[in-house]
Amino acid sequence: MTFANTRATTYNDTVVRQFAIMTVVWGVVGMLVGVIIAAQLAWPDLIAGVPWLSYGRLRPLHTNAVIFAFGCCGLMGTSLYVVQRTCQVRLFSDKLAAFVFWGWQVVIVAAAVSLPLGYTQGKEYAELEWPIDILITLVWVAYAFVFFGTVGTRKVRHIYVANWFYGAFIIAIAMLHLVNNAAIPVGFMKSYSAYAGVQDAMVQWWYGHNAVGFLLTAGFLGMMYYFIPKQAERPVYSYRLSIVHFWALIFTYMWAGPHHLHYTALPDWTQSVGMVFSLILLAPSWGGMINGIMTLSGAWHKLRDDPILRFLIVSLSFYGMSTFEGPMMSIKTVNALSHYTDWTIGHVHSGALGWVGLITIGSMYYLIPRLFGQKQMYSMKAVEVHFWTATIGIVIYIAAMWIAGVMQGLMWRAINTDGTLTYTFVESVKATFPFYVLRLLGGVLYLSGMVIMLWNTYKTATAGRSVTVTIPAAVAHA
Ligand code: HEM
Ligand code: HEM
Repeated sequence: MTFANTRATTYNDTVVRQFAIMTVVWGVVGMLVGVIIAAQLAWPDLIAGVPWLSYGRLRPLHTNAVIFAFGCCGLMGTSLYVVQRTCQVRLFSDKLAAFVFWGWQVVIVAAAVSLPLGYTQGKEYAELEWPIDILITLVWVAYAFVFFGTVGTRKVRHIYVANWFYGAFIIAIAMLHLVNNAAIPVGFMKSYSAYAGVQDAMVQWWYGHNAVGFLLTAGFLGMMYYFIPKQAERPVYSYRLSIVHFWALIFTYMWAGPHHLHYTALPDWTQSVGMVFSLILLAPSWGGMINGIMTLSGAWHKLRDDPILRFLIVSLSFYGMSTFEGPMMSIKTVNALSHYTDWTIGHVHSGALGWVGLITIGSMYYLIPRLFGQKQMYSMKAVEVHFWTATIGIVIYIAAMWIAGVMQGLMWRAINTDGTLTYTFVESVKATFPFYVLRLLGGVLYLSGMVIMLWNTYKTATAGRSVTVTIPAAVAHA
């Protein structure tokens, strides 16, 4: 068989392997920075005098590393794996796929250098300056070509639902990135937003919330719809529900952004629209959660001794929790208490550590042995230990933040009979200290699980070999 023929009948898993390894590596890096900033919040003078290690510079480094390095490498890797299996065809272009991988790593390194140096557009989750934004656009367009090109050349008529979610993530992020980063460059690493005042805020949070909706949610639902049925060896509970909640989710998310701007200069009616759509969002979110969890019907016993399935299913319970909490926090009177407090940070991390983190980790544990020709990870005991350190870490982290958040909100609004404030701000900071230490402990636990995973991945990869998987001649289900 000639080389060209072999390529035509095998999947391109090189790019998937690269992304899978980097997901774990960037996960450790991003969460290490998370642990450092958690320690800085407890002890602000921890790294005093080194500007590039100051909290204000490391915080965006953390968010960019966990979302765009850890999260996106996971999404890009799994999507390129899933799209080949479910379309039963090799990736549309190997060269473009390689460009996507290397281009994205350059973006990550550019972020890791420019953020500590203090270059920022000042927009949360869109901090990177214009030259990096242009590179992101190029890589993203290439990614879209590879993904949709593969869907376009598929050998099965049907487009499996996971691809719908991945596809929505790719299209929406392209649109959000272009609109929110519209800026006028005034120097090599300096630009001004094309929008001003309240419009700027509105566009930013339309972006911010849809980054949650399409990157941190829709993309990972794509992961969920492939890896849960695979690991559980059961079909998706309801295919109809998956389509209904897909359309409901993507329609509703687009309108919910203003809940980030309650009680601001944004017109009141826009805030109310944001709140109402956020409340509606509970239904399609729970549609996805129920569909994922119910896929285990008849296979519940597998949870007892399969730690990978446990990662995947527990991630859905955190998804359900954070998508119940989010709509509650979007109610204006509740937001009046929660906004500016650590309650928001608790909500963020129940979604981030619980949903995004656990679904990615579970999917990687499914994927990595297969990519290196192994039956399972080098140590399943280590996977088990990882599950417990991660789960206990999340619970400590989010419980500490919830208690701290509600306490802060109540202290700030407490008023004496003569109308003066009961507590000074500094008193609320002092009262928060023990919870910051607890959060640090939760973070250290979660991070140690990731370090165990890195070791386990290294052992699995070095014990195995890269495998080439042949595309089945007869088109069966993926
Ligand atoms: C070891 C794990 C982690 C630790 C210790 C940690 C710690 C932190 C800390 C201390 C902050 C700043 C909070 C503040 O400003 O008051 C933060 C913010 C944030 N983290 Fe993490 N984090 C971790 C993992 C993650 C992961 C895996 C994700 C996403 C997938 C994530 C997403 C975020 C986001 C989006 C924010 C900004 C929240 C906001 O502005 O409201 N974190 N994290
Ligand atoms: C039905 C779904 C959801 C709704 C309605 C919702 C709603 C909210 C609300 C009201 C806030 C607080 C805004 C503020 O006071 O500033 C918030 C913050 C946030 N949520 Fe959610 N949430 C949902 C799901 C999620 C999920 C699943 C994740 C993560 C995986 C997530 C990540 C975030 C982040 C990162 C922030 C902080 C943004 C910032 O200020 O930097 N949310 N969300």
